[in-house]
Amino acid sequence: MSGTSNIPFLDLVTPHAELKEELTAVFTAALSTAGFIGGPMVQGFEEDFAAYCGTSHCVGVGSGTDALRFAFLAAGIGPGDAVVTVPNTFIATTEAISQSGARPVFVDIDEATYNLDPALLQRYLETDCDYNQETRKLTDRRTGLRVAAVTPVHLYGQMADMDPILELAGQYNLIVIEDACQAHGAEYFSRKQNRWCKAGSMGLAAAFSFYPGKNLGACGEAGAVTTNDEGLARRMRMLRDHGQSQKYYHQVEGYNGRLDAIQAGILRVKLKHLPEWTQQRQAAAVRYRELFGETGARVILPHQPEWSKAVYHLFVVRVQHRDELMKQLGAVGIGTGIHYPVPLHLQEAYNSSGYAMGDFPVTERVAAQIVSLPMFPQLSASQQSRVVSGTITHLSVAVTS
Ligand SMILES: Cc1ncc(COP(=O)(O)O)c(C=O)c1O
Repeated sequence: MSGTSNIPFLDLVTPHAELKEELTAVFTAALSTAGFIGGPMVQGFEEDFAAYCGTSHCVGVGSGTDALRFAFLAAGIGPGDAVVTVPNTFIATTEAISQSGARPVFVDIDEATYNLDPALLQRYLETDCDYNQETRKLTDRRTGLRVAAVTPVHLYGQMADMDPILELAGQYNLIVIEDACQAHGAEYFSRKQNRWCKAGSMGLAAAFSFYPGKNLGACGEAGAVTTNDEGLARRMRMLRDHGQSQKYYHQVEGYNGRLDAIQAGILRVKLKHLPEWTQQRQAAAVRYRELFGETGARVILPHQPEWSKAVYHLFVVRVQHRDELMKQLGAVGIGTGIHYPVPLHLQEAYNSSGYAMGDFPVTERVAAQIVSLPMFPQLSASQQSRVVSGTITHLSVAVTS
């Protein structure tokens, strides 16, 4: 791209142009067999993605939201239960909790990683809940609900600190369902296991989204659940297919939540390229750090703890005067985004949840300052220089005016 052309927040056209032949071959194969639902393309992708995540099973479903919902349902979570998660996430996390019949309970994030803060989780479990040692039942005092699960979200492609979360979950008998919808291929160094673990391999199950803009994106809607639990995988296969494991013999009421064969075929093609795309994103993140570093600007860059290999689904920085910065960058053709502008506990949809402004100060503080800069594998060094100089120009004006 030239020095003055627009820099999109996300370029979804180039990767599809590059893979056009491989992708159209998937359509051709599906058309020639009319194998649109289930079959070898779905099974092949499930096997490949399970291997990629280091899990024994992958169940392809219709979206990341389906993946979360089916994981909660298959894990036995339902009415009377509460599931702990963060207010700094996309609403699908809590929609899936509510749609399983349970209720979301929020714990604030760590200001450095923007993910669930294990110390605040511990404080919530110890001070806001009662634990019955005999029944191993944890009760939220405010709502009287059984706290059944915790859902850490690996937001922006950055891992939540899983060791202490898993430790607390073990101590309080909580199921862990990871929301890995933004974290395909991210890795966590478990001090406990003394090894790197892939996102989606550490909880009882994990949800992935293949929404087109994700690091691994379909050409439409798609999602998957990964797990090492065979029984859970079997239940999710039934739930996604109207509660049947044999055609027209329904053990339970289920859903129409299958992964399309064409999407599975496309994802299988793209999965082969994911390691390279991830490296390109990581290299772009290093370049942003170098470029911002040289300027000494007052921009808070993403923090990457030594135990995390982030995959930079998003490159989120914090600045003063965020809205003005976005306007200024937009005026010179640079796309940006906010993930997310309104914390979930302050969304209208949760007006009746009993939460109020001030309940989760870290999330509230960062929500007013975060901005996602352009990030995609094909982002060039010169485009990044323009993003950084555009940001710096604005910040120096904002500071002196
Ligand atoms: C953190 C998070 N959770 C869940 C989802 C839901 O995924 P989908 O849009 O595929 O339903 C998304 C995707 O947007 C997400 O970013």
